[in-house]
Amino acid sequence: MEKIVLAYSGGLDTTVMIKWLAEKYNAEIVTVTVNVGQQEDLKAVEDKALKLGVSRHYNIDATKEFVEDYVFPAIQANALYQEKYPLSTALARPLIAAKLVEVARKEKASAVAHGCTGKGNDQVRFEVSIRALAPELTVLAPVRKWGLTRDKEIEYAQKHGIPVILKEASYSIDQNLWGRSIESGPLEHLDTEPPEDAFSWTTSPEKAPDKPAYLTVKFEEGVPIALNGEELDGVTLIENLNRIAGAHGIGRIDHVEDRVVGLKSREVYECPAAACLLEAHRDLEKLVLTRHELMFKQYVDSQWSWLVYSGLWEDPLKKDLDAFIKTSQQRVSGSVKLKLFKGSVKTVARSSPFSLYDLRLATYDVKSTFDQSASEGFIEIWGLPTKVSSQLLAKLKSATKESEVSEDEK
Ligand code: ARG
Repeated sequence: MEKIVLAYSGGLDTTVMIKWLAEKYNAEIVTVTVNVGQQEDLKAVEDKALKLGVSRHYNIDATKEFVEDYVFPAIQANALYQEKYPLSTALARPLIAAKLVEVARKEKASAVAHGCTGKGNDQVRFEVSIRALAPELTVLAPVRKWGLTRDKEIEYAQKHGIPVILKEASYSIDQNLWGRSIESGPLEHLDTEPPEDAFSWTTSPEKAPDKPAYLTVKFEEGVPIALNGEELDGVTLIENLNRIAGAHGIGRIDHVEDRVVGLKSREVYECPAAACLLEAHRDLEKLVLTRHELMFKQYVDSQWSWLVYSGLWEDPLKKDLDAFIKTSQQRVSGSVKLKLFKGSVKTVARSSPFSLYDLRLATYDVKSTFDQSASEGFIEIWGLPTKVSSQLLAKLKSATKESEVSEDEK
């Protein structure tokens, strides 16, 4: 008998899949739920799986690992896909894939299964990671393979006596500590504002407090370690920040996104902690990194985000970029004060022992400070290519004019 390890969320797709896979493949099913801070009752998810006859269920708490090994590197990389999306869903996928592989090996299973459709990014992320980590495993994607739709699944569930709670299916939601992704339903119509009921982590900016809140985030080597002077572990820090910033209406994102499979889709997110930490981290980098470092890192950051979005977490290029990003963070320590007010988060103060700005100020008083007279020669040389090419263009222009005049005279 085959043994299949299924990534189980407790939702309709994967619940139906337990029976479906067992039947289609005459297989023993082992389910795995990875806690990445999705705030669900994982005991209830486990009970549901066991009731449906799985031979074993694994509840894996990976919140700490998720924050330290996935979210922190994303902060260090100022990770935003297409300048907007903090990659919340994208970051959790390679971690879940690694846990599936771990369980599959332990259970000596021959296949792993997931509930992704054939249209999204998540299938790409799961499968690329699983193939990279365990090429010997078969990957099954029943929703894609059999074109399972919600209606087909409900019908199957009823026929097989699978108890499913049918929530109103207006949105497709995925959430973890780094954010909440909301798709489909009314959001598919680009010409209308997302309805208020799409959101659950954030107060609408209109209803947010009329008084701003201030928050100080302390970083060490690009990693947030304290909020308002209180040192916190990563999970607690992010949870607190989601709550505080969410109450101020911060972190709502609405954009048109290019998926890996080539289509455009309207994506809505709530990422309050990410909005704050990415703003603060980027600001601190500007204080402590040189202009050259900043310019180059911007390119590395966007490539890193693109690779992670596209499911290439395990790719050697991503690891090479990790190495650069890691060393770039050695001086990214200090504090950033944020002002949270009705949906916006702004940096209003910053300090660091590695501040390059402070260094300049410190040398201001002594005699040989910035030599203004040196600027004159600098400008001459700096502008030389521009001056030379402008002169040439002017010469060419007047030459054509002259020849036009002599043509007219003929
Ligand atoms: N577009 C986002 C991403 O690719 C969100 C995906 C959300 N997934 C979901 N099942 N609702 O990362």
